Amino acid sequence: PNRPLIAPSILSADFARLGEEIAAVAGSGDTRADWVHVDVMDAHFVPNLTLGLPVVQSLLKVSEVPIDCHLMIEDPDRWAPGYAEAGAYNVTVHAEAAADPVMLAKNLRAAGAKAGLSLKPGTPFEDYAEVLKHYDTLLVMSVEPGFGGQSFIADVLAKVRTARRLVDTGHLNVVVEIDGGINADTIEQAAEAGVDCFVAGSAVYGAADPGRALAALREQAAR
Ligand code: DX5
Ligand code: ZN
Repeated sequence: PNRPLIAPSILSADFARLGEEIAAVAGSGDTRADWVHVDVMDAHFVPNLTLGLPVVQSLLKVSEVPIDCHLMIEDPDRWAPGYAEAGAYNVTVHAEAAADPVMLAKNLRAAGAKAGLSLKPGTPFEDYAEVLKHYDTLLVMSVEPGFGGQSFIADVLAKVRTARRLVDTGHLNVVVEIDGGINADTIEQAAEAGVDCFVAGSAVYGAADPGRALAALREQAAR
């Protein structure tokens, strides 16, 4: 397999110092994050509110690492392309909220971003297997979206395995990403199930040295 990708989630960072918190995972070598994961929540799709496009635009100006936007919002068909136009590397929308996921993927790509599709823990992969070929990333949620620091739901690994098989047998160019409860105790089982990219919030930003923490996670995932 390829080198595992690590995407620290700034949901667990200090929101008063977001630029510095991103710089803390933008070092050199193994301590550099592959993507920085930014959780956008609208208090409707999920019961929490974080930040939106103006903050993402400011983060894009200072981040040396590509930004992975995870949009936990209603009506992504309307709002998601703005994040792509702003320069996000990858823009992920929730399948449960998208009215026309195929058209939305096309719009995200036309705006210059990779297109990501996310599934909540209870959403079956089979419902979206057909649309996956229009996407570049598949974000499997391993907690209910809304909050950092929750416990990993191991049941979703069956969904990861199914998705991995379809991506490999169909020769799809899709990065399989997992989000929620990833830490030193859970990352190996996720890697074994076929995950390419690991989002980690509290496990990175809760550590004394976020760069070292992400490097250690990547090394664990590679075994
Ligand atoms: C939760 C967010 C996650 C969150 C993960 O809804 O999508 O990205 O930051 O946090 P941890 O890694 O602490 O579970
Ligand atoms: Zn997320």
